[in-house]
Amino acid sequence: MNAKAVRDIREQALSEANAATTAAALEAVRIRYLGRKGLLQDIMKGLKDVPPAERADVGREANALKKSLESLLRERKGALERAPAVGAAAGFDPTLPGVWRAPGVAHPVSRVIEDCVRIFARLGFTVAEGPDIETRYHNFEALNTPPHHPSLDALDTFWLASGECLRTQTSPVQIRVMESRKPPVRIVTPGRCYRRDTTDATHSANFHQIEGLYVDCAPVSLADLKSLLAYFAREMMGPSTDVRFRPHFFPFTEPSVECDFTCHVCGGKGCRVCKFSGWIEIAGAGMVDPRVFRQVGYDPETVSGYAWGMGVERIAMVKYGIADIRMLYENDLRFLTQFA
Ligand code: DAH
Repeated sequence: MNAKAVRDIREQALSEANAATTAAALEAVRIRYLGRKGLLQDIMKGLKDVPPAERADVGREANALKKSLESLLRERKGALERAPAVGAAAGFDPTLPGVWRAPGVAHPVSRVIEDCVRIFARLGFTVAEGPDIETRYHNFEALNTPPHHPSLDALDTFWLASGECLRTQTSPVQIRVMESRKPPVRIVTPGRCYRRDTTDATHSANFHQIEGLYVDCAPVSLADLKSLLAYFAREMMGPSTDVRFRPHFFPFTEPSVECDFTCHVCGGKGCRVCKFSGWIEIAGAGMVDPRVFRQVGYDPETVSGYAWGMGVERIAMVKYGIADIRMLYENDLRFLTQFA
């Protein structure tokens, strides 16, 4: 032990005291150096082994260590006590108003999907999902869509170099689910779809659909489909909503219909929203075509079922009175937060 070593210990002690930002940390420094089993005690005990010529010097340094550390600790403690309660974070003023962060809200498209799923879930439907990148087989062929159908045109669908495409509808999920399960089936399939549409007030190249599929081993009829969609219409749009079916054609259902809901704005009397017809087109639907059942290995003699598909943006626009589909994708919070 020599004077230099004691001076080094003093340096170390002072720098630790300066770095301490809480009363507890200061106390820990005090105990480490000045405590009963601290370093200063060790130095004092070691004095008797120091050569007599150096003993006075070492003693003086030890004293200086004690004095200067004590006074620094006192000073730092006082400074900490005078600082605000959270003085550790320099510059923080707890009396200033806090930073307000707006709570997030669900996008209207997400909300409509959640509402739809909740309504169908009450009737025993579960959610199934499929890939956005689909095979030609699942998106078209298995759905009984002939090669000359316009939706297969290069100008109507996004084709990838691999020969796959971005799905134009959620209907291929019907095929994927039936391929992987035995009947009965009761699913809804929300998801994104893509078409090479020119964007305007009612078209977007990227949009969402919800598909439904019900297959049973007992006979299922168009009346079952209609009562299901009528229940959905009332739950989604209000208790006085009615539904009607119009004959239509889809390759994967026979017979096929389009399903309209009474206009929720005028209640069916006719207004600008429903183009004075009293009705708003919401879904395509029908009884699953036997050829689709055969494609997935189901026996059309023993199973029957219905399917429907509807545009999520369309429902959102009708329900919330949105005039232009593009507003749903502009991410303008002034618009989006209105539907919270
Ligand atoms: N996939 C059709 C479309 O995008 C909608 C549709 C019609 C779905 C009839 C169905 C259905 O499941 O049975 O236009």
